[in-house]
Amino acid sequence: MSDVLVTQAGPVLEILFNRPEKKNALTGAMYAAVVDAFHRADEDASVRVVLLSGVGDTFTSGNDIKDFQTRAATDEPTHASPFLTALSSLAKPLVAAVNGAAIGVGTTMLAHADIVIAARSARFVMPFTSLGLVPEAASSLLFPRLVGHQRASALLLLGDPLDAEAARDWGFVNQVVADADLMTTARSVAARLAALPAASVRQTKDLIKNGRQDVPGRIAEELELFRDRLRSPEAAEAFRAFAEKRKPDFSRFS
Ligand code: COA
Repeated sequence: MSDVLVTQAGPVLEILFNRPEKKNALTGAMYAAVVDAFHRADEDASVRVVLLSGVGDTFTSGNDIKDFQTRAATDEPTHASPFLTALSSLAKPLVAAVNGAAIGVGTTMLAHADIVIAARSARFVMPFTSLGLVPEAASSLLFPRLVGHQRASALLLLGDPLDAEAARDWGFVNQVVADADLMTTARSVAARLAALPAASVRQTKDLIKNGRQDVPGRIAEELELFRDRLRSPEAAEAFRAFAEKRKPDFSRFS
């Protein structure tokens, strides 16, 4: 079974992260499969809406940490880069259905979704600093705009977790529903969008995102810092600690 499931249900292209045994941690192959699905959605007129969710109890635990370790040993660009470009430039509307924890890029990607429906069990965490990293997906630009400077700092500097209701109150989740109702609600929102005139929906999305011309530049700027941070001794300690199921010790780094 593939780690990303892509199915078309009428006018809605559903993309599901499907690696539940690893909490849907994202590998290079998974990013590539989602990029292909986004391109297909924009090229195929029969697709009017994209719906993104995860299989199991986690939306996604973010980038695969083993993959981070491999990347850190090479000079290759991160797999996330084409994903972030495709996500931030997707022309068709994107509905995200968050079924549990959304960690790292699992949360940052939501700032690019148009409608976010969260299950009551959803939890949002961006633990970049505690991994010796910096934020990505232009979250350092978009989260202060979405929730304000201090709240963005609690999320991005401290890595404070947020539950579904708080995320709705802070403005980056539209609606919180019972876990059992998540997909029905998300599919019904997707169906409403799909029934509207497609050109009008596309142009409206484009207008709403018109103030985001600075996003590609910020994505690139963050990724440059991110690449350096991936190779830092602090990140190496954090990744080792994760593999060894212990707390990292950053006391020897200045
Ligand atoms: N990368 C690689 N593997 C991951 C992963 C990730 N981001 N998240 C979870 N996994 C793996 C675990 O190593 C474990 O593998 P194992 O069964 O071979 O030991 C498996 O998925 C289950 O995870 P586990 O930690 O046992 O489940 P949990 O319910 O106790 O906790 C999470 C779930 C998501 C809260 C926890 O796994 C976690 O914090 N993951 C890391 C999140 C993270 O820091 N992501 C990077 C953000 S930039």
